[in-house]
Amino acid sequence: MKVEIATQLASLIEMSIDDVVKLIEVPKNTEHGELAFPCFVLSKILKKNPVQIAKDLSDKISANNFITVPVGPYINFKANRQVLVKDVISEFLADTDKFGSSDFGQGKTIVVDFSSPNIAKPLAFHHIRSTMIGNSLVKMHRNAGYNVVGINHLGDWGTQFGYIIAAFKDCDEEQINNLNLKEIIDAYVGMNKAAKEDSSVEDMARSCFLDLESGHNKARLIWQKCRDLSLAEFERVYRRLGVSFDSNIGEAFFEDKLENLIKQVENAGITNISDGALIVDLEDYGITTPCLLRKSDGATLYATRDLAAACYRYETYKFDKAFYVTDSGQSLHFKQFFSVLDKMQLPFAKNMYHAPFGVLLVWDETTKEWTKGRTRSGQIVLLEDILDEATKRAMDIIQDKRPDLANKSQVAEQIGIGAVVFNDLKHRRIKDVKFSFEDAINFEGETGPYLQYSAARAASVVRKYGKEIKLPENFNALISDSSFEIIKKVSTLPEVSLRACSEGEPYIIANFCLELAALFNSFYAKVHILDNVDVDSLILIPEMVSKALSKGLSMLGVAVPEQM
Ligand code: ARG
Repeated sequence: MKVEIATQLASLIEMSIDDVVKLIEVPKNTEHGELAFPCFVLSKILKKNPVQIAKDLSDKISANNFITVPVGPYINFKANRQVLVKDVISEFLADTDKFGSSDFGQGKTIVVDFSSPNIAKPLAFHHIRSTMIGNSLVKMHRNAGYNVVGINHLGDWGTQFGYIIAAFKDCDEEQINNLNLKEIIDAYVGMNKAAKEDSSVEDMARSCFLDLESGHNKARLIWQKCRDLSLAEFERVYRRLGVSFDSNIGEAFFEDKLENLIKQVENAGITNISDGALIVDLEDYGITTPCLLRKSDGATLYATRDLAAACYRYETYKFDKAFYVTDSGQSLHFKQFFSVLDKMQLPFAKNMYHAPFGVLLVWDETTKEWTKGRTRSGQIVLLEDILDEATKRAMDIIQDKRPDLANKSQVAEQIGIGAVVFNDLKHRRIKDVKFSFEDAINFEGETGPYLQYSAARAASVVRKYGKEIKLPENFNALISDSSFEIIKKVSTLPEVSLRACSEGEPYIIANFCLELAALFNSFYAKVHILDNVDVDSLILIPEMVSKALSKGLSMLGVAVPEQM
């Protein structure tokens, strides 16, 4: 409707369709119709008073899916409910599973770099942010028809591996093969501590890292074991979260590509030497700290590897857009490295996006304060522990309220994890997130379980109906205010998903789900759908709501239990 109005208006006044779209408003009072156009912006150009302009223009605009009414300086557009409802339902029934999906992104490739934890450490609770925001970016773009490559850019390189190698350098091959992750993590922590007291430990670690760099067999073997064990551990958690990647190529992969990369940057004539280090000055980009490519001791950096990875990804995938999902603390790094690409005049430099996010704060029951995910003893909160506890709490609720439910443990896992994930995605990325079990696992607030419950409730009405759902002969029962609001909301799903993609913001979808669920729940409280004379058309309401909520939640990576 908006596009149609904008197209007609644009041809009547001298304005582009895009500019008209930007001016079109949604009236606060629904009695004023679905959309409105303010005419005062035109009075200067047309040299007429806006009330007159509204009258003149509204006579000239016509369509069968809305009516046009001038009200003061506004033109209001009221949907022709019969037409709009018929259009939406016909489209929905034509391909129920595809509703809300599009082929908007056809032929375009998006690369999403997300999760990307450092190996030789367990996944901490805060890793959920990058993991689930990135996962949602992947899903929403796939749903919009893009070809998407999800990349887990593992932090699997760096001087810290020197400590791990030093700890096991006297082991033989068999002993190395039998190591487990806990032994590796403990050794790393132990060596770090020892290095603080004894500087020879640090020297040893440095020389072990050099061994790794030069491809020394045993160093390589220990590193490989550490990577394999870490990845297996991560994958167990990813599986519970329903997350997968198309590539696990991490930083180490780029080691032997860095010399070439550095040459390429040097050839672009943009490097300087400063105190023996190789840098790219970025003052002309308004960035006062230069990008460091190689330290004076020859060591390369995070940024060097990211530059190499970006070039490699462009060569491999020819992406149209690349997202990097990390906390906002890394914003300077991304600004720097994107600017270096731009300074090198690489064709993809303008298509790089950092999707930063805020801090995850956890409620600490004992100290009664929000903390950055550390216990009082300084121990980091593990992601898996949170998932376990959330699942356990969900199970307690099920045992209490629905002891007869089928697949209890599966549903408890879906509710517990869904609660944690939705809590993370329901606000703009950049905002800090507060997590408490009480708020997240609550069936009444703006939570995952509330949405899962709403979707399951709608699905259960449809199940009880038990007949094939057909296009109704008339739409009289579906144009009442409360039905119409729901259908209108459902009809915005395609547009909502595209907006979420273009802004890289899962919360836009989360909001859609919350608004739709609220509309449906108040409808459900008023209307007895199954024993209504118009059940054959009213059944479309729960059917559309359950499908739209499922699609929305699936784009957020929140599972939807069939029953709960
Ligand atoms: N491993 C990094 C960290 O834990 C995140 C990597 C993000 N991706 C990237 N291409 N820099 O902070």
